[in-house]
Amino acid sequence: MMTSPSATAILSAFEERMDKPTARDLAHAVSRAIRDGVLPPGTRLPPIREVATQLALSPTTISAAWSLLARAGAIRTDGRRGTTVADPVGPSSTRYRRALEGQSGFSLDLSTGVPDAALLPSLSRALGSLTTAGTPSSYLDAAVLTGLREVLLNEWPYVASDIGIVDGAMDALDLVARSALRFGDRVVVEHPCFPPLLDLLDSIGADVVGVPLDGEGMQPQLLAAALASPTAAVFVQPTAQNPSGISTTPRRARALAELIEGAGTLVVEDDSAGAIASAPAISLGRWIPERTVHIRSFSKSHGPDLRLAAVSGPTPLIESMLARRQLGQGWSSRLLQRILLSLLTDEASRAEVQQAQREYARRRAALVDALAKRGVAVGGTDGINIWVPVQDEAAALVRLASQGIGVTPGSPFAILPDMPGHIRVTSGLVATDHEALADQIAAAAHATGWTGRGR
Ligand SMILES: Cc1ncc(COP(=O)(O)O)c(C=O)c1O
Repeated sequence: MMTSPSATAILSAFEERMDKPTARDLAHAVSRAIRDGVLPPGTRLPPIREVATQLALSPTTISAAWSLLARAGAIRTDGRRGTTVADPVGPSSTRYRRALEGQSGFSLDLSTGVPDAALLPSLSRALGSLTTAGTPSSYLDAAVLTGLREVLLNEWPYVASDIGIVDGAMDALDLVARSALRFGDRVVVEHPCFPPLLDLLDSIGADVVGVPLDGEGMQPQLLAAALASPTAAVFVQPTAQNPSGISTTPRRARALAELIEGAGTLVVEDDSAGAIASAPAISLGRWIPERTVHIRSFSKSHGPDLRLAAVSGPTPLIESMLARRQLGQGWSSRLLQRILLSLLTDEASRAEVQQAQREYARRRAALVDALAKRGVAVGGTDGINIWVPVQDEAAALVRLASQGIGVTPGSPFAILPDMPGHIRVTSGLVATDHEALADQIAAAAHATGWTGRGR
């Protein structure tokens, strides 16, 4: 096992690498000491006062240096263990992988959570109207097309001051999490929750608390209990929640808004279903615009490979997200924005998306009704996925896989105990033969592991 260097060795490593008595210079010195291998991951840094005394600097300078290093992910501060050198291993996508990895080779793959390509609007009219990719006059040109901003602000579920365009809902969630949250912040999520969001929150060291849903959305009494401790943000999916298919009702949205306002926290709404949800778009921003971040993805409605989402929120937060983005990709392709604008304004394209929404609702209802006849009660009402209760998750997966059917295990979505368990089935991909598929899913839902769980 590698031994940690002593406080004296750490402080002289800093001193040797410092030129000027500034926070920035100290931060550089610490980074260099980490890079040189003098401070291995996990090394505990001496307390701020001790560093200040030994280096003859003020505690404020040391704190400022520590903030710079924490922002860069080089060190972590955690009340119990103090400040330690962070592990250089990148963020992990454990739940995401557990949910989706190894899901290939099925004759019917219902594990993907993606829309049916046949139900996406045709791009031919949108592409036909584009003649060149266009040249920005500068890299600082307006990041959002004016026409797109107007269309979206008109359709937005609350009166937002502005709209940003980013590369999909995950990009928006990543930017929000990095701008609004700090290591150790407490955040509330829905149980069950979209696994990549849980991986993202893990990657920034958030303390994640799950609150269960009922048929109307997040349960208010349980949210109130969770908000009794200081909470930095509440993450919800307002419509067609993935995986449960629950759309928050206006009555519930209002109750949640009151609680969130009372707690003085932020709500981050991930509307990934967008225009393919049957329920009308809803946002807590109607009641608490200054506390709401609202994200709308166009992946399900217009195509995952457009990689576009729109986001609104409190001005200082959006400004800090976009300033961060300026240092990276800067803006989302305006060429893609022009395609999206055409799809959102062309009557025929709008009709195609409305038709897709009705078809997803029909497919969902057909499978849910067929399962109900077989004694499997599926909750939720909306979207392209159904959340099927099963006796034994592993047994259900194995049984369906043996019949060439891929579905997603429920456990990566669980943030609280989920017994006996669930599987997620992308009903949006099933156009026909719902009765036969329901026979197979119902048999899998009732299957128990042959190793005899609980014996
Ligand atoms: C709840 C939820 N959030 C975010 C996403 C990702 O959206 P995007 O493709 O816009 O990044 C998905 C995709 O399935 C989702 O279900």
